[in-house]
Amino acid sequence: MSDRTFTPAAGRFAPTRLYDPVVALTRERLWRALLVAYVAPRAGDVIVDVGCGTGSLALMLARVESRARVIGVDPDPDVLARARRKDGGAAVDWRAGMGDALPEIVGVGSAATAVSSLVLHQCPVAMKRAILASMYAVLRDGGRLAVADYGLQRTRRMRLAFRTVQVADGKEDTQPNADGILPELIAEAGFDDVREADVVSTVTGSISIYTGHRA
Ligand SMILES: C[S@@+](CC[C@H](N)C(=O)[O-])C[C@H]1O[C@@H](n2cnc3c(N)ncnc32)[C@H](O)[C@@H]1O
Repeated sequence: MSDRTFTPAAGRFAPTRLYDPVVALTRERLWRALLVAYVAPRAGDVIVDVGCGTGSLALMLARVESRARVIGVDPDPDVLARARRKDGGAAVDWRAGMGDALPEIVGVGSAATAVSSLVLHQCPVAMKRAILASMYAVLRDGGRLAVADYGLQRTRRMRLAFRTVQVADGKEDTQPNADGILPELIAEAGFDDVREADVVSTVTGSISIYTGHRA
C-alpha cells in the first residue's frame, strides 16, 4: 500500500506553522522525554523516526546520543523544511517519503530502533497496518519499536479531550486509536512483547507509549 495522501501535521484546517506551539500544550516535554528514555539510544544505532514532522523527536534522539544515526522520514515537504531549519547542525538525516515505504527509503533490516510519535492516529487503519509492517521490515533481528500516540481513551474526561484531535484529524482515522486498536495492530505486524509502557493524560486526550521488539 502506498496511497500518497496524508493528513498534515496540524490537521485538516490549521496551518503547519501552528503545529509546534499547539503540540507544546500536550505535556510534550514529558511524553517526549519518556519516549526517548524507552528508546535509550546507543552509539552506532540507526534509529528511524517515521512521520518525523517538524523534527522535535528526531532532534532529541540525536542530542541524547550524537553517535547514533537518526533518520527522519515524512511525506510533507513543508514539515521537512521546518525540521531542517531547526536542525542547524545537520544532526539528523531527513528523508521524504511515506511511512509504508521505509524498506525503499532506509533499507530492510538496517535499523536498531523504529520510532514514531503522533502519526498513527492520523492514518486510515490500512495505513496504520502498512506503516507498522514497514517499521518491522527495516528493523534488524532484536530491533526495537517505540511509538507514542493517542491510544485507548479510558475515561470520559480523556474521551472528551480527545474530541479536539478528532475535529482536527477526522473521526474515521482517530476513533480506532481511541478504542485501543494499536497494541493489536503492533502485534499483528509481528512484534513481540508488545506493551503499553506509559500513559500521559493531556488536554487533548491521553498519549500512550507502546514498545515491542523484533525477535
Ligand atoms: C501530528 S504530526 C507528528 C509529527 C512528529 N512525529 C511529532 O511528534 O511532532 C504527524 C506527521 O505524520 C506525517 N504523516 C501523515 N501520514 C503519514 C504517513 N502515511 N507516513 C508517514 N508520515 C505520515 C505528517 O506529514 C505529519 O508530519
